[in-house]
Amino acid sequence: MTEKQTWSQRFESALHPAIARFNASISFDIELIEYDITGSQAHAKMLAHTGIISHAEGEALFTGLEQVRQEYRQGQFQPGIDAEDVHFAVEKRLTEIVGDVGKKLHTARSRNDQVGTDTRLYLRDQIQQIRQLLRDFQTVLVDIAEKNVETLIPGYTHLQRAQPLSLAHHLLAYFQMAQRDWERLEDVYSRVNISPLGCGALAGTTFPIDRQYTAKLLDFDHVYANSLDGVSDRDFAIEFLCAASIIMVHLSRLSEEVILWASEEFRFVTLKDSCATGSSIMPQKKNPDVPELVRGKTGRVFGHLQAMLVIMKGLPLAYNKDLQEDKEGIFDSVNTVKACLEAMTILLQEGLEFRYQRLATAVTEDFANATDVADYLAARGVPFREAYNIVGKVVKTSIAAGKLLKDLQLEEWQQIHPAFAADIYEAISPRQVVAARNSYGGTGFVQVRQAIINARTQLGVS
Ligand code: ARG
Repeated sequence: MTEKQTWSQRFESALHPAIARFNASISFDIELIEYDITGSQAHAKMLAHTGIISHAEGEALFTGLEQVRQEYRQGQFQPGIDAEDVHFAVEKRLTEIVGDVGKKLHTARSRNDQVGTDTRLYLRDQIQQIRQLLRDFQTVLVDIAEKNVETLIPGYTHLQRAQPLSLAHHLLAYFQMAQRDWERLEDVYSRVNISPLGCGALAGTTFPIDRQYTAKLLDFDHVYANSLDGVSDRDFAIEFLCAASIIMVHLSRLSEEVILWASEEFRFVTLKDSCATGSSIMPQKKNPDVPELVRGKTGRVFGHLQAMLVIMKGLPLAYNKDLQEDKEGIFDSVNTVKACLEAMTILLQEGLEFRYQRLATAVTEDFANATDVADYLAARGVPFREAYNIVGKVVKTSIAAGKLLKDLQLEEWQQIHPAFAADIYEAISPRQVVAARNSYGGTGFVQVRQAIINARTQLGVS
């Protein structure tokens, strides 16, 4: 490394090349370049507005920065390792373009408040993009639900057949999870959207800056009230990674269900060729790669959350270089969540076919209507716990006889309890079992239709 670094004349010699590489963040923080330029443009305007530099100088900095942006977009400006980080890279190129006035840009600012500003501007954009992807995902869920209100599917607890469900109800559970994700990100956004610009290195600045002015230019809702906190706070990053992790929890649960459903053991769905791959050796196979990848990628996002928490734990005030480690995890989490949401949306939209015949049979081949027999008796005055015990015995003897409840003769029912009448068969038919669960939020068709209307209303809110 021949050229001296930007920081100061107090350094006698250049960095060891390996240390320069170790120290540099340009290979990844280049992702922030447009935000860095936008933040610097606001800073330059503020410097001119407050009279810290002249209007002509402010103008020169602003247009020079715009040129750096264009050069970057056109691929003419590709800073290398010698730039150390994106902030130095932009400032250096700016100074090449506009001359000595470029050296005024960093007045009343530090890279510490600068990088905090850039990261927030980046996350703000990304949060809105992820929220839109959540909306797309939710829309597809409601579309499929709408077509499947009366499609029945076994419902499970402990992965044992429990009670049959409307398929729409099952899918709308994921709609609700995504709705919370969407709302949670809005809440995270409110704490991302606070400006640290003007906090300086840690203590503020001697110049008469106007922090509200830059905050307004950059659309921040507030400014940090304490400069030490402003440059060293990464709560917003932790919160984002937490929200991202919860999205991944939801996507991986759905993934796991799709993987099960596509198995020969369940046979509830067929994977279409556009979203599944074959095996290189077993010609009969069709693999659920998309949900498997989503399930697998979940671990990376959890890992980034954990890493961020550990980076922050015990970090003394204010800025420490440890904070440079926040970026790769944030970028990777953003990219992973976006890719997974997009893939799952496509998978739902065009990669899955429900096997209606098989689903219809599945809900008739078990004792998932046993609760309804107990409810039947309870509705006719038998205390529920007693009814529960009676039905337990019925299930036991039916299993021994190799029969299902629907196969019992009316006399057999009446031997069990005189309250049973001919309408027991209707009461335990899967369709009725589902329809009857008409309590608020239940799987009854009336409830599910209302849930779809409510979901559409929620989707209309932006
Ligand atoms: N590349 C640095 C980072 O990402 C920018 C801030 C550097 N600040 C400092 N005091 N060395 O955190």
